[in-house]
This record gives sequence, structure tokens and C-alpha cells, in this order.
Amino acid sequence: MSMHDGYPIIKMLAKSPAGLEETLAQELEELGATNIELLNRAVAFEGTKRELYAANYQCRTALRILVPIAHFTILNEQDLYTKMKAIRWENYFGNSHTISIDSTVATSLFTHSHFVSLRAKDAIVDRFREKTGERPSVNIENPDFRINMHIYKDEVDVSFDSSGASLHKRGYHVSNAEAPLSEVLAAGMILLSGWDRQSNFIDPMCGSGTLLIEAAMIAMNIPAGQHRDEYGFMRWKDFDQDLWEEVKNDAHEQQRDFEYKIIGSDISERNLKAAVANLRQAGLTDMIELKVSPFQEMTPPAGGGTMITNPPYGERIEVEDIIGLYQDLGDALKQKYKGYKAWVISSDFMALKKIGLKPMKKYILFNGQLECRYAGFDLYEGSKRARYQQGEGTIPADETGEKDL
Ligand SMILES: C[S@@+](CC[C@H](N)C(=O)[O-])C[C@H]1O[C@@H](n2cnc3c(N)ncnc32)[C@H](O)[C@@H]1O
Repeated sequence: MSMHDGYPIIKMLAKSPAGLEETLAQELEELGATNIELLNRAVAFEGTKRELYAANYQCRTALRILVPIAHFTILNEQDLYTKMKAIRWENYFGNSHTISIDSTVATSLFTHSHFVSLRAKDAIVDRFREKTGERPSVNIENPDFRINMHIYKDEVDVSFDSSGASLHKRGYHVSNAEAPLSEVLAAGMILLSGWDRQSNFIDPMCGSGTLLIEAAMIAMNIPAGQHRDEYGFMRWKDFDQDLWEEVKNDAHEQQRDFEYKIIGSDISERNLKAAVANLRQAGLTDMIELKVSPFQEMTPPAGGGTMITNPPYGERIEVEDIIGLYQDLGDALKQKYKGYKAWVISSDFMALKKIGLKPMKKYILFNGQLECRYAGFDLYEGSKRARYQQGEGTIPADETGEKDL
């Protein structure tokens, strides 16, 4: 077994939302992970227990960190049962522990992932019962050990989930507005935007404030897990409390000041109240300015920066004139956001075109199940776009991005 700094090197797998694999790989590299490999909605990497703890605590775009324990091929259901039963589960947990099993399957051998989880659970329970007369019980909500199974064709990967609850649960989201973004997606959007963290950050349709809070945490290097108390690995037999404290202290030492503005606004007072509660929970009340206002009446501070927003899509929130809203957004960008980079995520591609600017960059991201475009616009100063602000006609077709979105 190879070692580093006195700890064995282990293989791990960080799961990410689709489209954020490269961003996550970069985060892992900065934490000292090695042998990084991009996969579909996941990144494989190597490191010691230190990197395992650090990835859970610091990666903003990881959903969970898995530690593979077994890999085998199967012929059929009985083979799956036999091979799951052959794993020495008692090396990891005992009768008094609770377990849960999550499965994903892409195979003709099984049609239901739930059935796979049940058979795997039978195998584990039967092994314990035959050896000890007792068995661990299942707890779906809050198990001591989460076991993750992935079946692709005839190949089975069995892992322990070191995170426990998904890492998007950062611990600061205490109040919900309509259609909040996942914290992991919000952080990914900010990292993808290339915001330099040394300029203003604006979200003029901020809802419960997810983008604002993630931006402040990124700007000040506050660890993603600062407000979260529990991780799966804390219940493992080999949990190293001293190493965990070291990892947290190292992360806190990297915090830094931020001297620019982070501003959020929303037309809905109710939604903004949720943002106030979340900011308070995140300890960021003094860092972020909030205002109840339609974005049409907001003017960003001079000096430039980055605007990122998640407008209503019509799918999750009803807005009477969704096209008009995106047209207004385009007008606001052209008229008021000179010197800014602006990024908009939406699943409504028609509406997005109504912004009427050619995106400098765009990504495909998923907000839950909804396929979205995440489009970035450069409102650089003194550009030809200034002409449109002075009312010299419409934007030429090749600059509207109509074909591109
Ligand atoms: C999809 S939600 C944003 C969710 C937010 N990203 C979060 O994580 O909670 C869209 C928000 O746009 C707001 N909104 C709609 N029309 C607006 C307008 N004209 N000006 C400002 N905010 C508006 C809604 O009140 C809603 O909070």
C-alpha cells in the first residue's frame, strides 16, 4: 500500500452535477489531490485521509465524496447477492450500526435501482445474521453508513459515502424562497464565470440569496462546510479527530478580506426575507447589501464587476410576461452594466435570446432536472455596444446570439 505523510493513499470519487466536472477537478487539484481523472458527473482522484476530509470540507462543487471498497463483475441477481455477501462488512461496521444503500444502475440485468439496493441489503444483513445471530438495521434518513452501488453493464462498484447528507447542504439555508438554486450549482456558476474575487458582485433577482452567500464565501475563502456539523466519515471506525481539526484549521488560515460590494435585490419582499435569514445564519449580514426592488430600477455600483442571476424560467415560477422580463434584463445590461460581466442561467432558451446580446461564452448546466443554458455577456466599456444604448438602431442579427443559444 503506498503512503504519503504517514497515511495510506486511497482512491476516491467526487460526484458533481453535470457540467461542473472540470471545475471540481480544479478544486481538488488545489487541495493536493493527485491522479485526477474527469468522468461523467464525477471526478476520480487519489489522496490520503487528509484530502478526504479536505474535499468534504472545502470543495464547493462536490455533491459527495465516495471511497470505493469493492469492484467486481456479475452474471445475474444471484451473483450480485453472493458477491455482496462475500465483502467483509464487519471490518467496517457492526450490528448496532444503521445502514442505507443508494444504487444507480445502467444495465440490462436490472430495471430498478431500488431492487438492487434491496438485494444488496439482504446480502449484508444475511452475512451478519449468519455470523452473529444479529443484524444491522436500515435507516434511510440518517444512517451511520451510507453504501453506494453503481452498476454499469456487468460491472459493480461498491463505495462508502464519506459525506453523509449531500454536500449541497451547507448548513446556512434556513429559509426558502421560490425555486432556490442548489448551493453546489450556485458555487459552480460563480467559479465558471471566472469572477476575479476582486470586484463587485451583483444578483438583482437574488431570491433566498444563494448566489450572494456562495460569492461571499468564495471571495473570502470561507470553507464550504463552515456551517455544517456532520459528515459521514465522522462515524467511521478510523475517524481521526486530530487530523480533522488540522484540516479545518488549515482551511480557516486561508481566509482573506474582501473590500468590494456584494449586492442582492429582489422584487419580492417575502423572498428577500428568506435571504436575510440565510445571510444571518451564514454570518454574512455585514458583507452583503440587500434591497427590495425590481431589477429594472437598480443601478449597480461604478467600478465594474460580475453580475450573476437566476431569473424566473416560467417552469418553476409563473411570471405573466416572461419574454418582457428578459427583454428588460437585456435593456438593463446594455444601459447600466457597462464594465460588468453578466451571467444568466435559464431553461427558457427563447426568453434568453430576448436579452439581445451575443454571449461571449455559454455552458450547459442542469438546475435539478431542467436543462439550462448558462450564458455570459461582456458589457465592456467603450464598446460598439454603446451605440445601442444611444438608440442607434437594433442589434445586428449576428450579435444577438439568436442562433447560438
Ligand atoms: C428563480 S428565483 C431566484 C432564486 C435564487 N437564485 C435563490 O437561490 O433563491 C427568481 C427570483 O426573481 C425574482 N424576480 C422576478 N421578477 C423580478 C424583477 N422584475 N425584479 C427583481 N426580481 C424579480 C423573484 O421574486 C424570484 O425571487
